[in-house]
Amino acid sequence: MSGFGRRTEPALPPRAERAPPPPPPQAAVPIVRPAAPAMPAPAAPPAATASRTRLWSLVMEQVDPTLAAELPGERLRAELERLIHQIADKHRIELSAREQAALARDIADDMVGLGPLEPLLADETITDIMVNGPTNIYVEARGKLQKSDVRFRDSAHAATIAQKIAAAVGRRVDESSPMVDARLADGSRVNIVLPPLALDGPCISIRKFARKRIDFARMVEFGSLTAPVARLLEIAARCRLNILISGGTGSGKTTLLNALSRLIDHSERIVTIEDAAELQLQQPHVVRLETRPANLEGKGEITQRDLVKNALRMRPDRIILGEVRGPEAFDMLQAMNTGHDGSLGTLHANSARDALIRVENMVQMGSFGLPVKAIRTQIASALDMIIQIERMRDGTRRVIQVSEVRGLEGEVITMNDLVAFEYEGEDSQGRIRGRYRAAGIRPGFIARLEYFGLDRAWLAALEEF
Ligand SMILES: Nc1ncnc2c1ncn2[C@@H]1O[C@H](COP(=O)(O)OP(=O)(O)OP(=O)(O)O)[C@@H](O)[C@H]1O
Ligand SMILES: [Mg+2]
Repeated sequence: MSGFGRRTEPALPPRAERAPPPPPPQAAVPIVRPAAPAMPAPAAPPAATASRTRLWSLVMEQVDPTLAAELPGERLRAELERLIHQIADKHRIELSAREQAALARDIADDMVGLGPLEPLLADETITDIMVNGPTNIYVEARGKLQKSDVRFRDSAHAATIAQKIAAAVGRRVDESSPMVDARLADGSRVNIVLPPLALDGPCISIRKFARKRIDFARMVEFGSLTAPVARLLEIAARCRLNILISGGTGSGKTTLLNALSRLIDHSERIVTIEDAAELQLQQPHVVRLETRPANLEGKGEITQRDLVKNALRMRPDRIILGEVRGPEAFDMLQAMNTGHDGSLGTLHANSARDALIRVENMVQMGSFGLPVKAIRTQIASALDMIIQIERMRDGTRRVIQVSEVRGLEGEVITMNDLVAFEYEGEDSQGRIRGRYRAAGIRPGFIARLEYFGLDRAWLAALEEF
């Protein structure tokens, strides 16, 4: 293990040689080690008052981390508070009851949780946590990015927490492998980059798992789309169109994919492929696959492309690719063109047109030397729809474009905007106003709508615009 501040604990003498425990000074606190050997106390946060710092080290000298780890969170906090109170009394350290309680919470978070990140993880309004070094932490709350006053003691402290996160999913992160994707126990997605790659100290980026599911009804409430637009997307999913969801980083692509996937029939067999599993499908028959990074010797990597190829041998009704970002695009298109319709995926792009260009570039990576026209033919026949979503400057995530991929004219893929969001201004609170317009075109996939008996429903939804 390399030295990212992992505390070296002195080896305890064998049990028989250990001095008999001195009589406890006051009521015994069950987390206190019997004979407390001197242990190097970690430094308390620099911002803390001197009394807090002193109490922190005194407490850490007495607490046995193994015993502490066995207690449930609330109990540990209460016991720590009791211990802090005793120590403060004994050493005449002035700290208000509120500060003592806060100290107990911080120590408990550090011992059994993710330290200073715990309050941010508990805050439901926060969706993203971005640690850029020990004292530079940002959060996204209600769609807006802001600096948080939470901080780590130092770089080593942040690295210890990062290692704890990685270790929990059986990965390691240190100087020799300083970049890791992981997941928290609750499903939140985490990326870690340590020095020397990260120049200003450990970086930890957390996309929190949304406890409250965001389905179409909630998206309508949030103003992410309107009921008729939601209806069109539902119909598209039910008709097994091949759909890509495109948008910038954090724009809500995965969330929309989750919402769409909820409409898939329960009788279908679905295979999902992701780098870090984020999809939460409700169907009973789902096979979830996740990629694997190379090990330290550079071996054993399983890519998304490997998984897509393998998925084709698993008799899937649909393949869902969490994020298309490389040569697997080629295999995905092949799958879409060979009967695995209803396949879904997301990708990073700034418009539906850009999304097509990205797919083309990715397919080129995966199919050496295939002529451009052949690639475009594949794309045009595989993809049916691209949904563009955007995080707007007022913090709202909004579907701004629903386009159909129509076909090929010469060498150009033709597209039609079926629905587009038109910006109309801002209200007094700075919220963006606008409306959806539907183009009065019969989509190229009309035959499919008819086949599924949903053509009337489609027209009815358009009437409501
Ligand atoms: N329509 C929405 N309304 C409000 N919040 C949303 C909406 N969609 C997503 N969010 C929140 O925004 C955050 C980002 O969403 P999501 O993970 O879906 O984005 P993404 O585009 O997939 O991001 P990435 O590019 O990192 O994969 C999440 O915390 C999610 O809960
Ligand atoms: Mg995503």
